[in-house]
Amino acid sequence: GDNVMYLAHKHGIDLEGACEASLACSTCHVYVSDAHFDKLPEPDEREDDMLDMAAMLQENSRLGCQII
Ligand code: FES
Repeated sequence: GDNVMYLAHKHGIDLEGACEASLACSTCHVYVSDAHFDKLPEPDEREDDMLDMAAMLQENSRLGCQII
């Protein structure tokens, strides 16, 4: 689908996505700009759990494959 991870790959942006959007990794970790962060639906519990494993977690961290 057209999640942020997919779009990054399509446009040649170097973002991993080891588990192919199945919420089993955190390699698609991205920082979302303030202007966009509040517009996104809240991460679900599984995304939050995976985010907790991500390195360099920030307030505006999300998993790219979960942003649609
Ligand atoms: Fe693994 Fe996003 S690609 S959680």
